[in-house]
Amino acid sequence: MAKPQKRYVCQSCGSVSHRWAGQCADCNEWNTLVEEAGAVVTPFAAKHNLQGGGRALSLVGLDAEVALPERMATGIAELDRALGGGLVEGSATLIGGDPGIGKSTLLLQAAARLALAGRGVAYVSGEEAADQVRLRARRLGLGAAPVRLAAATSVRDILTTLGQGRPPALLVIDSIQTMHSDLIEGAPGTVSQVRASAQELIRFAKERGTALVLVGHVTKDGAIAGPRVLEHMVDTVLSFEGERSHQYRILRAIKNRFGGTDEIGVFSMETGGLSEVANPSALFLTHRDEGVTGATVFPALEGTRPVLVEIQALVVRLASGATPRRAVVGWDSGRLAMILAVLEARCGLSFSSAEVYLNIAGGYRVQDPAADLAVAAALVSALSERPVPADAVAFGEVALSGEVRPVAHGALRLKEAGKLGFERALVPAAMTRDDGGLRLTGFRTLGALVDHMLGRG
Ligand code: TYD
Ligand code: MG
Repeated sequence: MAKPQKRYVCQSCGSVSHRWAGQCADCNEWNTLVEEAGAVVTPFAAKHNLQGGGRALSLVGLDAEVALPERMATGIAELDRALGGGLVEGSATLIGGDPGIGKSTLLLQAAARLALAGRGVAYVSGEEAADQVRLRARRLGLGAAPVRLAAATSVRDILTTLGQGRPPALLVIDSIQTMHSDLIEGAPGTVSQVRASAQELIRFAKERGTALVLVGHVTKDGAIAGPRVLEHMVDTVLSFEGERSHQYRILRAIKNRFGGTDEIGVFSMETGGLSEVANPSALFLTHRDEGVTGATVFPALEGTRPVLVEIQALVVRLASGATPRRAVVGWDSGRLAMILAVLEARCGLSFSSAEVYLNIAGGYRVQDPAADLAVAAALVSALSERPVPADAVAFGEVALSGEVRPVAHGALRLKEAGKLGFERALVPAAMTRDDGGLRLTGFRTLGALVDHMLGRG
């Protein structure tokens, strides 16, 4: 009989080692190895008494018939959009996000909608008492929805309860970090517990055709806590993002075995809960005045959905030789450094003795590389104190050579801008054919944009 070996499990990536170390050898995180009791590890073949054999599989072609998974629309269009059309029966979805961002609120609203539509829905809260959840439901005007509610943390109790009678169409577990499985030792929230609890719940969901939604906590650097392994186990991973101080929230699919990951759902958090935002551009565009310097509107693309956002830049000249600050909110700081470098090296502008601040209005986070040209225009406008016309949008990717490169979905971006009353667009020279009813000015290089804005040449 093998002597049980000590196991140390990295709480960040889930990798197992038999010796403690200050730094995980796999993910290089510090102080994440925790001793966890677990089953004695026996080689797979010995455990299953396998002697080489195995069963012959029947292999099929890629063109074999497939049944599309049954989808259950929640009735919250923005949630269904992020999910790729609704929840899939017998699937597991993980939703992560900062504390207080609105995960419980969103799921309670979805659960109530489905329950009101006649579906069986169970909502298990391991974080809040049943009364708290009930109070919240009442505040949301959903007190009458026939959701079956429990405050519980034992996976066995939950599955025993739900195993009786008809399984629910939707099971919400809020949150997986509070769940405890008695198949394995350890405190709730440790990697082994999270994994074991999720495994049991997912097995139940697959066997009974229940759509399972797990709420997952997020670590301070934004990853879903307790383990990457959780992300591998589920079919869909959604991330609920936003600034708590701002109203709006974005639901983004990070992984989806049943659909694309390029759609987002946009919500706004109000006193009556989360409400859907069908036209996000209007939300992110702050009130705009003619003649403000350092601001450009950028038609960003989220999946196939255009979202107009305002990019704001401020350039402050320093008298002393102190190292100037660069601060960015809502965009990549490395990318800003690059645009500044191109403006210096290729266009002859100098930012070296100035502080530079860049902000995306409304707390939105831009990930689209097409923002380069709009950022450059905002910077040039801030530096030169010449406004970008208030009826213009800008987009295009900037290369280190200073070239302005075309980007995807120009027509979509222009159409959205036109819808919101914009009349002009600053675009890559290669993209001036598709005008969408706007007056286009094309630029081959960033230098040409600078010349245009400064009235040179
Ligand atoms: P919650 O759903 O509890 O967040 P999470 O589960 O992600 O931690 O959301 C809590 C926040 O939402 C809280 O700060 C209050 C706010 N809120 C509203 O603004 N309006 C509402 O109707 C509700 C229910 C919550
Ligand atoms: Mg919560």
